[in-house]
Amino acid sequence: MSAQGAELEAALQEAIESVARQGDIVRSLKADAKDGKADKAAVDAAIEALKQLKVVQEQKQKAYEKATGKSGVQSRESFRANVVNALERKLFVIPSFKIYGSVAGFYDYGPPGCAIKSNVTQAWRQHFVLEEGMLEVECPAVTPEIVLKASGHVERFTDFMVTDVKTGDCHRADHLLEAALEAVFEGRTTPPAGEEERRAARDLHARVGELGVAELGAALTRYGVAAPETGNELSTPFPFNLMFKTSIGPKGDLTGYLRPETAQGIFVNFKDLLYYNGNKLPFAAAQIGNSYRNEISPRSGLLRVREFTQAEIEHFCHPEDKRHPKFGSVASLAPLLYSRALQMGEEKRALPMPLGEAVAGGVIANETLAYFIGRTHLFCERIGLDPARVRFRQHLRHEMAHYAEDCWDCEVHCSHGWIECAGLADRSAYDLRAHTAMSKVELSAYETFAEAREVDTLTVLPNKKALGQAFKGEAKAVTAALEALCEEGALAVKAALEAGGPATLEAGGKTYSLPPGSVDIRKERKRLTGRSFTPAVIEPSFGIGRLLYCLFEHSFYWRAGSDKRSVFRFSPLAAPVKATVFPLLARAELNATAARVSAALTRAGLANAVDTTGNTIGKRYARTDELGVPFAVTVDYTSLEDGTATLRERDSTAQVRVPLDELPALLRELTDLRRTWADVAAQYPAQAAPAEEE
Ligand code: ATP
Ligand code: GLY
Repeated sequence: MSAQGAELEAALQEAIESVARQGDIVRSLKADAKDGKADKAAVDAAIEALKQLKVVQEQKQKAYEKATGKSGVQSRESFRANVVNALERKLFVIPSFKIYGSVAGFYDYGPPGCAIKSNVTQAWRQHFVLEEGMLEVECPAVTPEIVLKASGHVERFTDFMVTDVKTGDCHRADHLLEAALEAVFEGRTTPPAGEEERRAARDLHARVGELGVAELGAALTRYGVAAPETGNELSTPFPFNLMFKTSIGPKGDLTGYLRPETAQGIFVNFKDLLYYNGNKLPFAAAQIGNSYRNEISPRSGLLRVREFTQAEIEHFCHPEDKRHPKFGSVASLAPLLYSRALQMGEEKRALPMPLGEAVAGGVIANETLAYFIGRTHLFCERIGLDPARVRFRQHLRHEMAHYAEDCWDCEVHCSHGWIECAGLADRSAYDLRAHTAMSKVELSAYETFAEAREVDTLTVLPNKKALGQAFKGEAKAVTAALEALCEEGALAVKAALEAGGPATLEAGGKTYSLPPGSVDIRKERKRLTGRSFTPAVIEPSFGIGRLLYCLFEHSFYWRAGSDKRSVFRFSPLAAPVKATVFPLLARAELNATAARVSAALTRAGLANAVDTTGNTIGKRYARTDELGVPFAVTVDYTSLEDGTATLRERDSTAQVRVPLDELPALLRELTDLRRTWADVAAQYPAQAAPAEEE
């Protein structure tokens, strides 16, 4: 679908939902009016709002039809229900612990789900780890507390929670507030809000992420937010840490957490990885593994789960040189960029922009970040996501941590709206500095200057004997504080001592009076040939499960002329099964040939299935379509005579006749996307599809 078509479709779906929600409001008001709990004016206002929303829906419907030539879209909910139904029926996914009633936020992958996940993960490894020469690591999920204290997760990895005061049900406070604000600025309240109120709600909506706990509580009260479903009163919001806590070892005295991200494993190994890389920068390390977040109310199916696979990259580089040697290879790519300026502007839509231009114009902070945006765009396309429904959204200033230089989310559009599937962030030197401070292990790199530099340095030499006499048991702390002085502090001490008086020094919350002679502070000109520095890190972080779910939605369709045959148009690269092998009839001699073809495909590393059920061809194709198998090989009596079989492509249902011994190599090339179906159709003779196919 074109980018414009996708946008119009999203707008139409939003309008359909608004009408549906307003319809619910009208119905419930009418019921209340019957019981005397609502007055006629409120019902009339709600009906008027519904009429206006229907007009908007009609306009959006027309715009969509004109641009795409299609007659309409299904509601998002019913589309989603169809996809999820197909996924669960064919065991792509299974709600975990189903026989015990399941637990929200956990899903199992069944056989085709495992296969497609493994294919997408392998494609990620090929695209990033292998093609970029990254250093891959695998670290434990159970992580000692100190690591996550250093990273800030123990203190700050929280979401604000509210509880239903009657049922005790938990909700994310920001999500409830966002939904309430959306109802205000979309005119879905009764009576609909005025212009000014709508603007205020929209402004607040953009800032929900930065509200402190008190402001959030006040806003929930101001907008009268109640518990969803029950309508009960809510508690005041409070922070809830999303990490699963555990204890390590039988004595239980070492606190640990299940990691909330895989990134920390890379940071703590930085020193060894740098050494492994010959002490050279830039380099990138990667990790694929499960992360765990005790999400407060995971209600978005596969998109928000409590255990999920992340694929993360930490690209370490010089903080003053974020050029990328391969940037030229992506500079002319033009992914959809939703920059800060576009988000704040009138139109509020992403536009394609060549990455070279985006860096030159300062839209993206540096080449390396833009390089990974380009590579992510290519990856999404490679696994089969619709590029018109993939955009890169820049974080607004308030969304970024104070240390971050620039952040972009790779968002994919699906029935849940635009979903962050990967975050790409320039995190400056924050993480390595934090672990250096906590571990006392210097996580830095060394650079040799092209030419030696003359620099003024300040040397602080504490006089240990004098300090021992003056401060006895506290001398060690005073010495450490002197050695840690910044330039400004050291110069102040030097000046005070040179003036003949004692100098004051703060250490561990106490003030010490340093007598003359207790420290020698010298300014010296030195010739330096190099220096140590803390590298900056640029982090692309992918959620494999979110990518997969979006891929499921982008691939799902109904076979034309049939409302019963659902198909997944997986690319051959991602498809869980690459080919099904059918004997045309259930005859021993045809089954034997089919088994030989299947074995040859397996030897070529191609997942395949043989269907000897004897069902009609139409039924057999329907079964493989539901799994998204891209190719089908049918062995018939001609195969026994001339050693050829038919090869059918899933989406076009076109068929060609191919020699059996060429099939493995041909399917391998198609699966690796080194060859297209059009190319194959041009090389081999076409064969008419059997009548029962359609
Ligand atoms: P959100 O705002 O949606 O909670 P996030 O900003 O917390 O996401 P990050 O912390 O940036 O997400 O995590 C990096 C990636 O990990 C995300 O882009 C997403 O793909 C994935 N991810 C994060 N939380 C979840 C989750 N609960 N379930 C599935 N995937 C997740
Ligand atoms: N490492 C980025 C994240 O998981 O949030």
